[in-house]
Amino acid sequence: MSAPLNNQLAIVTGGSRGIGLAIASQLAELGAEVIITARKPDALKKAADLIGRQGGRCDGVCCDVSSLADVEALAHKLGARLRKLGVLVNNAGVGGFSAPLHETDPSTWDSILNTNLRGVYYMMRQFAPALIANGGGDIINISSLAGKNALPNGAAYAASKWGLNGLSYSTAEELRGHKVRVTVICPGSVNTELSPHEGKNVSKMLQPSDVAHVVAMVVTQAPQSFASEILLRPAQKP
Ligand SMILES: NC(=O)c1ccc[n+]([C@@H]2O[C@H](COP(=O)([O-])OP(=O)(O)OC[C@H]3O[C@@H](n4cnc5c(N)ncnc54)[C@H](OP(=O)(O)O)[C@@H]3O)[C@@H](O)[C@H]2O)c1
Repeated sequence: MSAPLNNQLAIVTGGSRGIGLAIASQLAELGAEVIITARKPDALKKAADLIGRQGGRCDGVCCDVSSLADVEALAHKLGARLRKLGVLVNNAGVGGFSAPLHETDPSTWDSILNTNLRGVYYMMRQFAPALIANGGGDIINISSLAGKNALPNGAAYAASKWGLNGLSYSTAEELRGHKVRVTVICPGSVNTELSPHEGKNVSKMLQPSDVAHVVAMVVTQAPQSFASEILLRPAQKP
């Protein structure tokens, strides 16, 4: 039996570590040719090599999602390979959990909103047309439970994820008729560099592989099925 994503290209932003690396590895295991993006070339190469050693096909391409020029250059670089694009995972994100909004610098606000929200707009603007042209596919946006709840000392981050949820619900309706499913996944705290660990029992936290497992469920749904929003919580409070 052939792997479910054979002959498909998948793009995973922020694929050099953490949740993005776990998702990229999972999509490669499902048979996709995976493009991972991030800003730091060394970490990207290490991640792509790791997936290669696991038997997957993966290339790293430097791309800052908050830069329109970088996103356009990524599309240019992929060129004809985009005819196989079937999956886009918008995962790249930055945190910010240490100060109330009135003590938050405009530069911090810009970095969080430009990566977590504007970056997804740039990626969808650039790559949704390829998915439409290819007859459909999946766009998966990695949001957060911070996009469903209040997050004191993380208001800019919460605003970016509430915004991302609204963007995802709206574009899901725009793209549904083109057989492109836009799914938003909202995990609680995951054991990565981004997440504050103070006072948490790490063994009870969600792991990057748990988010990757949900992505695998989404991309292997039957064509008539559409899990549009998934809230992912740890089984026990960490
Ligand atoms: N960890 C959690 O508790 C948690 C919970 C819910 C949701 N999330 C969401 O899950 C996603 C991944 O988080 P993570 O925990 O895996 O974080 P992480 O370990 O810090 O990894 C973030 C990834 O994004 C890349 N990145 C950051 N800014 C970028 C930019 N401007 N352009 C391109 N790539 C960029 C990083 O690489 P470079 O630094 O090299 O660019 C890295 O590959 C984020 O959207 C986050 O908000 C995380």
